Amino acid sequence: MGTTLSITDTPPHLVEADAVVIAVRKGPSGPLPGPGSKDVDEALGGTLAGTLAALGATGDPGEVTKIATGGRLTAPLLAAVGIGAAGDSSDAALDPEVLRRAAGAAVRTLAGAGPGEARERRIALALPARDGAEAEAAAIGGLLGGYTFRRYRSEPAGQVALTLLAAGGHAAAAAHRAQVLATAVTLVRDLVNTAPSDLVPAAFAARAEEIAAGAGMTITVLDEQALADGGYGGILGVGQGSVHPPRLVRLEYAPPQASRVLVLAGKGITFDSGGLSLKPPKAMEAMKSDMGGAAAVLGAMQAIAALGLAVKVIGYLPLAENMPSGTAQRPSDVLTIYGGTTVEVLNTDAEGRLVLADALARSGADSPDLLIDVATLTGAQVVSLGTRVAGVMANDGALRDAVVDAAGRAGEAMWPMPLPEELRKGLDSAVADLANVAPDRNGGMLVAGLFLREFVPVGVPWAHLDIAGPAFNDGAAYGYTAKGGTGAATRTLVQIAQDVADGRLPTGQMQAG
Ligand code: BES
Ligand code: MN
Ligand code: ZN
Repeated sequence: MGTTLSITDTPPHLVEADAVVIAVRKGPSGPLPGPGSKDVDEALGGTLAGTLAALGATGDPGEVTKIATGGRLTAPLLAAVGIGAAGDSSDAALDPEVLRRAAGAAVRTLAGAGPGEARERRIALALPARDGAEAEAAAIGGLLGGYTFRRYRSEPAGQVALTLLAAGGHAAAAAHRAQVLATAVTLVRDLVNTAPSDLVPAAFAARAEEIAAGAGMTITVLDEQALADGGYGGILGVGQGSVHPPRLVRLEYAPPQASRVLVLAGKGITFDSGGLSLKPPKAMEAMKSDMGGAAAVLGAMQAIAALGLAVKVIGYLPLAENMPSGTAQRPSDVLTIYGGTTVEVLNTDAEGRLVLADALARSGADSPDLLIDVATLTGAQVVSLGTRVAGVMANDGALRDAVVDAAGRAGEAMWPMPLPEELRKGLDSAVADLANVAPDRNGGMLVAGLFLREFVPVGVPWAHLDIAGPAFNDGAAYGYTAKGGTGAATRTLVQIAQDVADGRLPTGQMQAG
């Protein structure tokens, strides 16, 4: 059903658990007990390094070596997880991402293995938790490593009870933050993993209403009639081929002490078939994840509200299903986006930018101090940066770099990308204000960014995160990342909200990106 987290200052050799997790580092001539494992090594009579070497452990990141404790620890099993060459000086703080991944790999291995999968497994984390950053990293890595998606399985899910072994006042606050963030990322992963027939736009909107009610946020949902009345031509055009009509969700978190407005907009295509510009079958397999941006905005807002951050945050989730049918939009149809800009739809598979255009244009009424959109927008993002690194574009170079920096502090890989002016003319249309695609594929991620820029309200600092690759993990699980939905960008959006609350964002003057 899930993973719970508690904290204790019980020493690791005495803790009641099914398994105790320690770190093992890659020493110059073999594996060495890592930071946090001193008590355990002493309880084992100083044999840990020798045992690890004999078992073939190397200390490589992600490697998990299991050792039976033979009664020398209260827990019957010890799991030593590699942290690489990190942590060689015993007082140096460990890179939080190394720690997150180590905790994730250990919990993932232990939670998924062994007899009695249905019963609760108690896992104690004796990983370094010497300050708040380390404690939070170990906790969130463990919580996310325990993630499984069991909605469509006939076997019930196992329960994992995590205990973070940490002494000191920093641990409780760190564990709380980890829990809030892990809950948000779990929500996003669940939404992405849900079959698209179970998460059509109205169902997604209903889920957003539940989350908003639980978090004390206000929410408005525009249905297809309200979208038509309001002039949301992009969302309607993309959604018109589906029997499941589109929605526009607007969430608002408005704490009394907030002085700044952050607007988040997330692409919410609940399934992207490509429309009449139909995708080939292989390219369609992961397209239930095409609402990963909208899910990240919803999850981030849930966390931002739970943490009580001192910033007003408005979230837009433009939700539509992109399907081919007799009512679908045609290549060469012309749409009128909210605010009046017309777009010639030359390729119905470039649909994300159409729904986001409505949301970005609509956000002008909220007078944002900062506008961020997040979207599984282009295959070109995956070609440029691979599946694990998101692209960041902005109308301000300093803002773009500050967003990349925020992502790094949140533990997510993002990289700065330009918006080259010379690519803009590719979006000129013979009949409308803009075309939705350029004549050639070159720089496809950047062209999509330039298209979105056309709809950013004048004078508003704006950044665009293309998470096409990172939103969904097609490959094997690694670190704290499961197969399937990853929750990409959720933690970055929370960090951005924190930075706005702290006055670190938006950065300075607008300038050419
Ligand atoms: N949802 C896709 C982008 C995508 C591709 C996300 C792969 C995740 C993995 C998007 O709607 C799309 O189809 N983009 C087209 C744009 C093209 C027609 C200009 C693409 O990238 O091929
Ligand atoms: Mn598409
Ligand atoms: Zn799409």
